[in-house]
Amino acid sequence: MRIPIIAGNWKMHNTTEEALKLVKELKSESGKTDVKIVICCPFTVLSEVSKEIKGSSIKLGAQNMHWEDQGAYTGEISADMLKEQGVEYVIIGHSERRQYFNETDETVNKKVKKALEKDLIPILCVGETLEERETEKTYEVVKAQTIKALDNVSEEKMKKIVIAYEPVWAIGTGKTASAEDANAVIAYIREVIKEKYSEEVSEIVPIQYGGSVKAVNAAEIMNQEDIDGALVGGASLKAEEFLAIVNF
Ligand code: G3P
Repeated sequence: MRIPIIAGNWKMHNTTEEALKLVKELKSESGKTDVKIVICCPFTVLSEVSKEIKGSSIKLGAQNMHWEDQGAYTGEISADMLKEQGVEYVIIGHSERRQYFNETDETVNKKVKKALEKDLIPILCVGETLEERETEKTYEVVKAQTIKALDNVSEEKMKKIVIAYEPVWAIGTGKTASAEDANAVIAYIREVIKEKYSEEVSEIVPIQYGGSVKAVNAAEIMNQEDIDGALVGGASLKAEEFLAIVNF
């Protein structure tokens, strides 16, 4: 039985003051659930949020990292820098990074391997664009993204990864994939994992859905057989809404 994992991706939101206010509200309610809760914050607030969540059940995540340990990469952050801030999870390959910041399947793979090397838990994002969905390429696209992201990742390391299926056309649009459709794609991703590794690993790996998850649709999504959680954007910025999703 996979434990549900609900992660909030704050994206480019929350100064330190705003972050601490939100986290304090989340902490007050987070102990009442067996769901894993992760908050993926901007780099600038990791230190203060890490201190604030100490002792709570909330885990700290980041939204990106570089695949090198150090070097002339202006503006970038390494895995070691994240770890010293108490980060345990890191979103890798988010569609917004693929779309706006030249993230490729190759850089995603390098980041996944580095994260695993440094004992960080990758939240590996895959998902099709609207054009790919409308031209019936969804399964082909998510398979290719998954396989390429996991190139040279061992079966043992695969057991540490979280996958997030995020149809690009559902992100930030208010258009949520139907629970059944999301479940079908996630079941297919599980099949891809089974083919590449084993049935055991395919049954272990938590696969989240992301894309306009809200309090009103969380239960229907989370109660799908193959869906093990959610990667939540906008709704994670409001404590009441995010907690309603966590307590789906
Ligand atoms: O990473 C989660 C995010 O892409 C989903 O955003 O605002 O549609 O929940 P949102």
